[in-house]
Amino acid sequence: SPPSSVGNCEDGSRSVGGENKVEMNWDELGFGLVPTDYMYVMKCAKGDKFSQGSLIPYGNIELSPSAGILNYGQGIFEGLKAYRTEDGRILLFRPEENAKRMKEGADRMCMPSPSIDLFINAVKQTVLANKRWLPPPGRGSLYIRPLLMGTGAVLGLAPAPEYTFVSFCSPVGNYHKGSLNIKVEDKLYRAISGSAGTGGIKSVTNYAPVYSAITEAKANGFSDVLFLDSASGKYIEEASSCNVFILKGNVISTPVIDGTILPGITRKSIIEIATDLGYQVKERAISVEEMLAADEMFCTGTAVVVNPVVSVTYKKTRVEYKAGAETLSGKLRKTLVGIQTGSVEDKKSWTVQI
Ligand code: COI
Repeated sequence: SPPSSVGNCEDGSRSVGGENKVEMNWDELGFGLVPTDYMYVMKCAKGDKFSQGSLIPYGNIELSPSAGILNYGQGIFEGLKAYRTEDGRILLFRPEENAKRMKEGADRMCMPSPSIDLFINAVKQTVLANKRWLPPPGRGSLYIRPLLMGTGAVLGLAPAPEYTFVSFCSPVGNYHKGSLNIKVEDKLYRAISGSAGTGGIKSVTNYAPVYSAITEAKANGFSDVLFLDSASGKYIEEASSCNVFILKGNVISTPVIDGTILPGITRKSIIEIATDLGYQVKERAISVEEMLAADEMFCTGTAVVVNPVVSVTYKKTRVEYKAGAETLSGKLRKTLVGIQTGSVEDKKSWTVQI
């Protein structure tokens, strides 16, 4: 574990994990990067295994211009949150799931990945070293971003000879400002069908290609875009930063995971929470028409948590959904956040205290 001495020392030197107060207005937190004190780094050569890394001051990293990540996009990332509880503990939410998903993504992108234990240790160390950036209970969370990339130099198309894992963090509040008005994107697709694509992993290459659709949607007053399947253009898949669910009657449905949709950890947790609350939850193909006829719609993700969708626009059709505290998504959010922040009993041992 990192040394426990205090933040900025009088002689100007810095040590790890201090609780020196930070100048932050926690109530103004959104989802923008707030640089913190430390990041955790591990390196490994192609064909080798990652071993223990170390904490270094947060800052820029040096890369060869021919690094695999820069030229050929050989990189994946994760996202998870740490929360302070009212009784002074710090909790991570299902970090093992992130470690497993990173391994699946690394296998797909021909990269070595840290073991589950190394991954969780890196995340814990990142949080402990930056503890003073963890918002007070109920005022936000510390978002941890583990990143795995080919940093060795390549020119021909091939897996990089060296890999770097970096875990950094930032205090965050809500991902979306205000209500979620979604535009269904009917020209640009996020992923190609089946496991041949990379839609089912958190590859860095999945994200920048949707910037044009998001930028256009935002310019027209929408908060996010929802992508359709590229094979038929008839079924909903996911939004740019989160999974989606609909409610019709007493049945909850969410698009089935089949290689084009990110297997969200919040998605998986919400399926379990809703099932335990007595709802029928179906993972299946959902047509645009069904979505437009739903009673409620909501998004789930680490960054977005659980967020009600107030409207969806598909071509010239706009529908509005029920929103507010009385909705299913309000109930699900309350339970999930309660578990994450230690105020609802964690019967499934999802949280990890650090
Ligand atoms: C997350 O929810 O953790 C993500 O990685 C989504 C990202 C676009 C912020």
